[in-house]
Amino acid sequence: MSALAKDERNTLCLPADAAGIAEAARVLAAGGLVALPTETVYGLACDASNPRAVARLYAAKGRPSFNPLIAHVPDFEAAKRVGHFNGTAARLAERFWPGPMTLVVPAVEGAVCDLARAGLPSVAIRVPGHDVARAVLAAVGRPVAAPSANRSGHVSPTTPAHVLADLDGIIDLVLDAGPCMVGVESTILDCTGEEVRLLRPGGLPRAAVEALLGHPLMRRPAGRQAREEAPLAPGMLASHYAPAVPVRLNAVSVAPGEAVLGFGGVRPAGSEHAVAWLDLSPSGDLIEAAANLFAHLRRLDESGARAIAVVPIPTEGLGEAIADRLARAAAPR
Ligand code: TXA
Ligand code: MG
Repeated sequence: MSALAKDERNTLCLPADAAGIAEAARVLAAGGLVALPTETVYGLACDASNPRAVARLYAAKGRPSFNPLIAHVPDFEAAKRVGHFNGTAARLAERFWPGPMTLVVPAVEGAVCDLARAGLPSVAIRVPGHDVARAVLAAVGRPVAAPSANRSGHVSPTTPAHVLADLDGIIDLVLDAGPCMVGVESTILDCTGEEVRLLRPGGLPRAAVEALLGHPLMRRPAGRQAREEAPLAPGMLASHYAPAVPVRLNAVSVAPGEAVLGFGGVRPAGSEHAVAWLDLSPSGDLIEAAANLFAHLRRLDESGARAIAVVPIPTEGLGEAIADRLARAAAPR
């Protein structure tokens, strides 16, 4: 246990080379907590079959324990040992894994512990599109639970520095592979029923899924209804991804003391008085905007502004996931 003792104040941070990957796998197999790079965001990883490790992970995040975790595996073969895939789920897996997509399917009994599934009969599974993540998963040889590596409700981390800002001294290891390329979490699809449902828009655009299915995705109900949908997607709490200061959406002007989160080079009226101004993508590229979203929110949060004004952002493609995260950041706390 000495390797996992937390007497020291700082969490070890290792480069994601062969030695770092081997050490991450060793710590995970021993029941430790590792911040793991994925293509979407950094995940806080633990052995999903070990209830003690999962309990420690919930505590580190300050996460409500009714909120189930995603089981990460290195390939579809490993996924089939964790969940039951119907024909449609298998087609989605074969087309979009590895990648920023999570499938909720009926759980295989005993593969992922009850605590990681929050007692649900289903399990969320993902094969990440990041070589380092898959190398660690292959070395561990067990499903790995990994929510975003931030304190519950905070902005998700896309760099090791973001992880350490929330969890330094609380977790055992950070595996450093630089910034995440996608920048928003995976798209979550519920494949437990007859029709596929979109539970969370994310890094895989809706249109790509609909092209494979050959019809529109069933829509996740919006607003109040979505919150009452708690048993279906318990993690979809209204307030989430939240900076410390208030967030104001669709801003067409800037109020005194506000910082501006821009897009496409548009400067709303009064921008010259803004405390700070960051553009998600000056050229109006939604993929670049998604990759910058959480890092920019963090920087504006630290700018000393009393609020963050967000300009209107298109909602097609990755814009749907961006709009979802910003709506949660702006939701009443
Ligand atoms: O991109 C991602 O998905 C990242 C990286 C680290 O892989 N992970 C991530 O995990 O975003 P987390 O824990 O922040 O979000 C998991 C979501 C939660 O909203 C949770 O409620 C939902 O998945 N979920 C997990 N199991 C579920 C289940 N059986 N049924 C419905 N929703 C489930
Ligand atoms: Mg999260």
